[in-house]
Amino acid sequence: MLGRYQPIVVANRAPLALEPADVYRNTPERLVKGAGGLVTALSSLASSTSALWVAVARDEADRALAARGDPAELVTEDGTTYRVAFVEPTPEAYDLYYNTVSNPLLWFIQHYLWDLAREPIVDTATLYAWREGYVRVNQMVADRVVAEALASAKPPLVFVQDYQLYCVPGMVRAALGDVRIQHFVHIPWPTPQYWTILPKSIRDAILHGLLGADVLGFQTRRDVRNFLLTCEENLGLAVDFRERTVFYEGRAVWVRNYPISIDVDGLLAQADSEEVIAEQARLLSWRPEKLILRVDRTDLSKNIVRGFLAYERMLDYHQELHGDVQFWAYLQPSRQDIDDYRAYLGSVLSVAARINRKFSRGGWTPIRVEVDDVMARALAGYRQFDVLLVNPIYDGMNLVAKEGVVCNRRDGVLVLSENAGSYEELGDFALTVNPFDIDETAEALYLGLTMDAPQKQARAERIRETVRAADINRWISLQVQDLRDLID
Ligand code: G6P
Repeated sequence: MLGRYQPIVVANRAPLALEPADVYRNTPERLVKGAGGLVTALSSLASSTSALWVAVARDEADRALAARGDPAELVTEDGTTYRVAFVEPTPEAYDLYYNTVSNPLLWFIQHYLWDLAREPIVDTATLYAWREGYVRVNQMVADRVVAEALASAKPPLVFVQDYQLYCVPGMVRAALGDVRIQHFVHIPWPTPQYWTILPKSIRDAILHGLLGADVLGFQTRRDVRNFLLTCEENLGLAVDFRERTVFYEGRAVWVRNYPISIDVDGLLAQADSEEVIAEQARLLSWRPEKLILRVDRTDLSKNIVRGFLAYERMLDYHQELHGDVQFWAYLQPSRQDIDDYRAYLGSVLSVAARINRKFSRGGWTPIRVEVDDVMARALAGYRQFDVLLVNPIYDGMNLVAKEGVVCNRRDGVLVLSENAGSYEELGDFALTVNPFDIDETAEALYLGLTMDAPQKQARAERIRETVRAADINRWISLQVQDLRDLID
């Protein structure tokens, strides 16, 4: 169906990032996959449909990529080509859009991260950042989409992504009128009350922007319900909860959940690559008998500190495990221009150091923290863990839970937060925890490490089957099916 159309993927991030040459490590310049689950999933859509990808140039490295062509033809190390059209806001506008509004404000609201007794403080600076940063960058992106749509020989299908670009659907609709637009929100959608943290002008503009789309996609049924409620309660719109539809300016906007997933075959091929096998050999040279793993961006929503506190409890209760177990936290640095993120990484490191001081003996270190971003190393970890800890406070989906178990070779156990989107699909086969409860998490870590082989195998197999049955192709085809129903 997509063949008749020109798909345009619109996201803050480009699918690839430029990693400059490093003279000290003696590594050449590389084009590497961008961070986060959005890029992981959307890359499959873009490469399988020869979509044009409209992205925002985030920094000097992106501007260097933008200088390679318009759109730039970017070829990965495995030969996949992406066509990326960059918009280039001023660094000041980008900073207000990304570091003041998108993260932390919207990200913190949508993951319930604010300690409301103290933060956030909303003032005219917030409104300024909204206007001069967020809206301005959204308008630049929308203008670029409109230009590409008008230049295209085929009718465009616009796929806008995530919380950085909430105003884009409305802006594109205002310019083009009759055009098919889908917006997918990758992160949780909170309750209507929690949105009232934002000034009315901002929270209403977010809904008006989104409702410019024909179809709104979310990760889970809970997100869909919360969105419909928000339209009804905060904007007074007519909503049909059974049909999952919002009536807006004479149009019916469909609201659906499409749980995002992974490219299982592509990932498995990558997990067998020479680079990963070399990383695995390195890992095998230090791994203890039992390995607990976590792989996360250093984001407050990921709950890394409570994960360490739970592990500390487990070591308190189970002295017999000392020396035989290690917790490897493989963490990708994230959003380090934002104070809260820098402080959070500081807490992660200091809590791990305290626990290591408390228990280390005879060459055994209970926690190994690595802050780095080498995909092959994460994949080696996926192959080797005995327990994978995924305990976010709230998370849209969390693809680590899916990737990890699919790649694992030891029937490792997944310990999963009930507030991760992936809980809806995988919860029955994981050991599920309340992410705030460190005693319950300690118990789950212990159960995972000591579970008998047949039970481990049965659980891992069910997760692998579930992910296979609902992989990234299904995520794409469900959305295409709905667009087809809409167009026909
Ligand atoms: C999450 C968000 C994405 C974002 C990614 C990485 O997955 O849903 O929109 O791209 O995190 O975050 P960053 O701010 O580095 O792009």
